[in-house]
Amino acid sequence: MLAHTMKRRVVKQNNSSSEVSEAQRTDRVQSASPRCSLKTGVLAALVIFILVPFSLRIRPELIQHLVYTHRIRLPFFVDLSRPADLSLNHTINMYLTSEEGISLGVWHTVPESLWKEAQGKDLAWYQNTLNHGSPVFIYLHGNTGTRAATHRVGVAKVLSALGYHVLVPDYRGFGDSTGEPTEAGLTTDALYLYNWVKAHSGNSLVVIWGHSLGTGVATNTAVKLIEQGVALDGVILEGAFNSVRERITVHPFTWYYWTFPGTGYFFPEPWAENKVVFPTEENLKKMRSPILFLHSEDDHLVPIQIAQQMYEVAASAQNAERVKLVSFDGSLGYLHNGLYRDPHLPDILKKFVMSL
Ligand SMILES: *[C@@H]1O[C@H](CO)[C@@H](O)[C@H](O)[C@H]1NC(C)=O
Repeated sequence: MLAHTMKRRVVKQNNSSSEVSEAQRTDRVQSASPRCSLKTGVLAALVIFILVPFSLRIRPELIQHLVYTHRIRLPFFVDLSRPADLSLNHTINMYLTSEEGISLGVWHTVPESLWKEAQGKDLAWYQNTLNHGSPVFIYLHGNTGTRAATHRVGVAKVLSALGYHVLVPDYRGFGDSTGEPTEAGLTTDALYLYNWVKAHSGNSLVVIWGHSLGTGVATNTAVKLIEQGVALDGVILEGAFNSVRERITVHPFTWYYWTFPGTGYFFPEPWAENKVVFPTEENLKKMRSPILFLHSEDDHLVPIQIAQQMYEVAASAQNAERVKLVSFDGSLGYLHNGLYRDPHLPDILKKFVMSL
């Protein structure tokens, strides 16, 4: 009997879905620990159920801060106009006006092979390099922080080393960009940048890479383009979620609703009146572009099953050969942000670009 139980356990460990529930269990243990302290719990409840709803009555736009946390300008003390400080010495900082009164801070990194030539060059030189035939990536980042965050710079370096251009905007309200974030606003910003890139890049491939919240912006943008009869050359979705409504206790944008049941009773849910939806699952059904999902099995914010679910939706909506999911072993410890460090990533990306 004992031998039988042990054998079952071994079999279970080999099953990848049990790894996932293992990870979920760890999450639950982690989220349970604050409850051990009664004082912290009472204080948190006071803030969540009294102060926050009260503040929201006075300033309803505070909801944006909970979802986007865009005012947390991590990393601190970085001059966004000087990307070279982050050893991006072939990157120019520029500002684009996506809409009247909305100025977006954007970094353009050219292929690494041009780094010497790029020294001291102006905006015009950078723009001219866009139509030299190298693929161009637009990287749409997640919530919190700026385009200078380590994992975002990390992705730009990987792409640049592969010989690609990378444009990384801070959406309205983020970094040094003006305005306030809204779902429609973020999508407008991405769409504007895409059209700006297309106007300068000739026949080069243009790929949109979204990470986390940026996967929602990316698929929103793809659907807007489909409505105009344009299919993106390729889309990469890293750490994708299905919709802001998804009940994940550790949801990157709405965890407070799922962690503290009843929160929605006291103050408006972000998706009420369709203010924040990011309907990625619905978007994927409409998209007609090659899609590469990248996801870490130990992603602590969006469980890997969500990516698998999204992969199924996208694959059944179009030719399954055009949709791929690459997952990274949980033992690598990449969590939600770290897969740019994977030594196999450049090959995975090169293969995807060659297939376009
Ligand atoms: C500039 O960046 C390139 C590519 O990352 C690197 O190889 C080179 O050493 C850097 N040069 C300087 C002077 O920092």
